[in-house]
Amino acid sequence: MQTFKTIHDLRNYLDDLRANGKSIGFVPTMGALHEGHLSLIREAKEENDVVVCSIFVNPIQFNNSSDLEKYPRTIETDMQLLIQEDCDVLFFPDEKEMYPVPSTEQYDFGDLDKVMEGEHRPGHFNGVAVVVKKLFEIVEPQRAYFGLKDYQQMVIVHKLTKDYNIPVEIVPCSIVREENGLAMSSRNERLSLTERTQAALIYQTLKMVKIKSGFATITEVKEFVVKQFRKQKNMKLEYFEIVDMYSLQPLRTWAQSTTVIACIAVWVGNVRLIDNIILFS
Ligand code: PAF
Repeated sequence: MQTFKTIHDLRNYLDDLRANGKSIGFVPTMGALHEGHLSLIREAKEENDVVVCSIFVNPIQFNNSSDLEKYPRTIETDMQLLIQEDCDVLFFPDEKEMYPVPSTEQYDFGDLDKVMEGEHRPGHFNGVAVVVKKLFEIVEPQRAYFGLKDYQQMVIVHKLTKDYNIPVEIVPCSIVREENGLAMSSRNERLSLTERTQAALIYQTLKMVKIKSGFATITEVKEFVVKQFRKQKNMKLEYFEIVDMYSLQPLRTWAQSTTVIACIAVWVGNVRLIDNIILFS
C-alpha cells in the first residue's frame, strides 16, 4: 500500500494512474477502522482499478471538543487492516495539510440539515461538507463509498455533489452490525462491555418499529420508542424520527410518503450512537 501525507504527492501518484485509464474508488474515513469500513473497501475494490482510503479526523465536524479529543486514533492497526484488505493507497494528511488556513466556507443544504444530526450537532454537516469536497477535489474519484449508518450524511454528500457538479458517484453501502445487532461504529470502542450489551436495544427497538409500522400510527410508534429508553438507567434517547428518505422531513402520517426511514440517536453512558432502519422504499 502506498501512503501519502501530502496532497501534492498523492495528486502526482493518482494523475499517473488516471493517465493510464485506471478508475479510482474512494473511501473517506476518520480511522479507527472496523468491519463497516472494511466492507466499503471491499466493495470499492470490486468496482474500481484503484482504491484510495483517507484517514483524517476532521476537527471542524465535531461540535463538541471532548468528542474530538476522545475520538479513537489507531493508525498502526488501521494501516495493518488496510494492507490485509489490499487497499492500494492511504491518504493520511495532518491538519495543516488539510487546513493551511481556517475554513470559512458555508454550505446551504436547505432543510436537509435542519433535522436529526443537523439539529443536534450544529455545524457538523458544514464541517463534513468542507472536508468531503476538499477530499473529492484532491482524489478525483469516479466513485465514493459511504456507509448507510450515517444516512443523513450520505444524503447531504449526495446533494453536495449535485450542487457543485462534482463528477463522482456516491455509492451507499449497507450497515454492518455486530452479532448483537449493534451497528458498527468507531465510537463503539468507547463502550464498556456492559454498555455494548445494553446498546443492542437500539437495533432491537428499530426492528420492533419496523414491525409496528405495519399497523400502528406514527405517534404510537414514537411513544413506544420513548418508553423503551425511558426505562433504561444508562441510556438516553436524543431523538427518534420517522422521515422521508429523500427530503429527510419528519412525517406525521404514513400516507405522506412511500419511501420512509426511521432514524435514532441514543446516548449509552457518555457515548452517542446513531442507527436507522428503512421502513418502506
Ligand atoms: O463518516 C465519516 O467518517 C466522516 O464524516 C467523513 C465522511 C470521513 C468526513 O470526515
